[in-house]
Amino acid sequence: MHARPRAKVNLTLSVGERGRDGYHPLESAFLRIGLADDLTVALGDGLGADVLTVSGRPGADATDNIVLRAFDAVRRAIGAELPPLVAHLDKRIPITAGLAGGSADAAAAVDCALQMWGAALSPAALANVALDLGADVPFFAGNAAAALVRGRGEHVQPLPQPPADVTLVLVTPQVALSTTAVFARFDDLKLFDPGKKRETPNWSDLVASAERLRDANDLWPAALTIAPELAGLRDELERLTGRPWLMSGSGSTLFAIYGSADESVPAARSLVASESEILGGAIINAVDLIGPDPLWRYP
Ligand code: C5P
Repeated sequence: MHARPRAKVNLTLSVGERGRDGYHPLESAFLRIGLADDLTVALGDGLGADVLTVSGRPGADATDNIVLRAFDAVRRAIGAELPPLVAHLDKRIPITAGLAGGSADAAAAVDCALQMWGAALSPAALANVALDLGADVPFFAGNAAAALVRGRGEHVQPLPQPPADVTLVLVTPQVALSTTAVFARFDDLKLFDPGKKRETPNWSDLVASAERLRDANDLWPAALTIAPELAGLRDELERLTGRPWLMSGSGSTLFAIYGSADESVPAARSLVASESEILGGAIINAVDLIGPDPLWRYP
């Protein structure tokens, strides 16, 4: 079986106070984007262990990979002895970048495992498996193009279909930001602000609403204290492109919203052509909302 799990960006991210379970109640507009990993899954022989090989982006771990954890979780939920799975994951989505590539892979792995084993789980059991794998996984377990995600990540309310011609430019600097570390910094610095106004994306003019969404990610100040260079990077991107740049999730990917591929692809090219020092080593993708492959990428 073959799957192309796509990444997401967060258009907004409101973070509440840390709960007793260690998680923070969120309210976030997720948008699925046209940038996908590549996962193939087949049935193995006998009753040995599942096998996963990984290619693509350096840093992806084949031994403690969320794809293997997803297979285990499904096996436990079914509660029967099942043949091993043999999988290959080609990582194309940047890692520890705020794009939830691992969560997208996990949701696809659950789906593939069920199909390979010819099994089904109740919606409630599936929802538990997804949330146990990670807070972003319930969004990917559904098929909404965009959704308002709340709670720890378990409440996924589909949003209207986003405009078809929207495209994004994503810049992922060589800064790995751990989600856990960014949330911990949010707590340490007491960044929770109960009075903060919540923004919502305006689908009828998403490009224009970027100005408001720019500062609608509550994790931005926390991420900056871990990676202060993100501030200079955002300034430079805004200077070079003349439009607002947002951060996705806990970072480190920054992105800008464009009305069409005719605008975003040249913009992405011109970032590379600028030879700006602060962009050195960054991964740049121009994407639509469909994919599965980017419109343009660098390198
Ligand atoms: O669920 P997942 O493993 O993706 O979450 C990674 C980390 O992000 C958690 O360990 C937690 O520190 C933080 N997190 C949070 N509140 C959420 C989602 C994630 O604090 N709603």
